[in-house]
Amino acid sequence: MAMDKILIEGGKRLEGTVRASGAKNAALPAMTAALLADGVTTIRNVPRLRDIQAMGDLLEILGCRFQMEEDVLRVDARGASSFEAPYDIVRKMRASIYVLGPLLARFGKARVSLPGGCSIGDRPIDLHVRGMRSLGARVELKHGYIVAEADSLRGAEVDLVGPRGSSVGATVNVLAAASLARGVTRILGAAKEPEVAEFARILQGMGARVEGAGTRTLTVEGVDRLEGGEFSIIPDRIEAGTFLMAAAITGGRVTVTGCVPSHMESTLEALKRANVQVEAEDDSVIAAGTAPIKPIELVTGPYPEFPTDMQAQITALLCLARGVSRLTDHIYPDRFIHVRELIRLGARITRIGAQVEIVGVDGLSGAPVMASDLRASAALVLAGLAAQGVTQVLRVYHIDRGYEQIERKLSSLGARIWREKE
Ligand code: EPZ
Repeated sequence: MAMDKILIEGGKRLEGTVRASGAKNAALPAMTAALLADGVTTIRNVPRLRDIQAMGDLLEILGCRFQMEEDVLRVDARGASSFEAPYDIVRKMRASIYVLGPLLARFGKARVSLPGGCSIGDRPIDLHVRGMRSLGARVELKHGYIVAEADSLRGAEVDLVGPRGSSVGATVNVLAAASLARGVTRILGAAKEPEVAEFARILQGMGARVEGAGTRTLTVEGVDRLEGGEFSIIPDRIEAGTFLMAAAITGGRVTVTGCVPSHMESTLEALKRANVQVEAEDDSVIAAGTAPIKPIELVTGPYPEFPTDMQAQITALLCLARGVSRLTDHIYPDRFIHVRELIRLGARITRIGAQVEIVGVDGLSGAPVMASDLRASAALVLAGLAAQGVTQVLRVYHIDRGYEQIERKLSSLGARIWREKE
């Protein structure tokens, strides 16, 4: 694999307008929903990302036909013939586990490689297993695989309350399986993320009977079959939020269009508390950085709380606050690998367990840094935009998993940012 790096010459105020892409984390489950269809599913507004390609590869391995042109993707699942998601794909993309429920519903069998840990910490699967068992499946962990089997799935009450709150992935898997189960399923402690609500709406569009999308309790009445359909993916609230932070960290002014401000309330609120001017309109948000950035205290949590997927980016912003910020990630208590790299750029951060204390500094200075996961890379790019001199972000393939053409989008706002071979 050719490795690219991103170079940023910091210190330019970002100005202008940028459009949010479709949400990666809504598109990935939508692609797995296609596995349930007795037909062709067309999905629009899909971002061109490595993770989307990886999910497309997985669908092909499962026997589907997969095609992507511009931002439109087609999945024909009529020929699906395999029920195994191999380690080779799952280790590259954890969202592979989202095929567990659809495979079980479709084939009565599923073999999905265990995801293991990753650079953001543990990725447990107990809630997925509990969910499938509640619907009547036998589930075993064997040879590094989750092996699930059910002669027929039966609707049931499924409790998905986990030690760290709700689970997006387990909710998506149970929703998928319950859609084709016999009888009524009630999911308690469901995830309320907009991407989960979107998944429920997509299933409805395919003929599923789901009620309560966007709430803690979902009710699903199983049907005999689901049809393909045509869907459009919601905007990426994390990408949009990242651009707002780019405005804030450079003292610039950026309008993000094509987004849903109501999906981003906790992020907008945090930015306001940090003294960033934020104005939300129907489908756009304007952020303007005003000095000084104020320190804040922040805790991540399940939606609508502050998203763990914005934690690294706001950490970068708070490095330049006037005062001491404290930030706790309850969702992924080990998601702090960006901290060491930010320190190389001149940040003052100490970590104790799931909390970091950030002592604001007057400026950052460019250096080579290493991207280790998707959102950590975004944080390093943000820091680089504000740092004096040149920042090189190595192993940038992580960022290509979840940000569509990030350097082009940031250049269009006036950033000096470009890509080179490592
Ligand atoms: C989704 O992952 C996202 N991925 C992640 O985005 C995101 O960080 C995460 O939700 C939390 O918002 C996609 O949508 C593809 P979870 P998922 O199951 O579904 C615990 C990014 O950067 N848990 O909601 O895997 C778990 O440890 C990525 O775009 C259990 O305890 O996350 C965590 O604390 C990274 N047992 C919490 O629940 C389980 O069986 C939430 O995880 C499953 C999860």
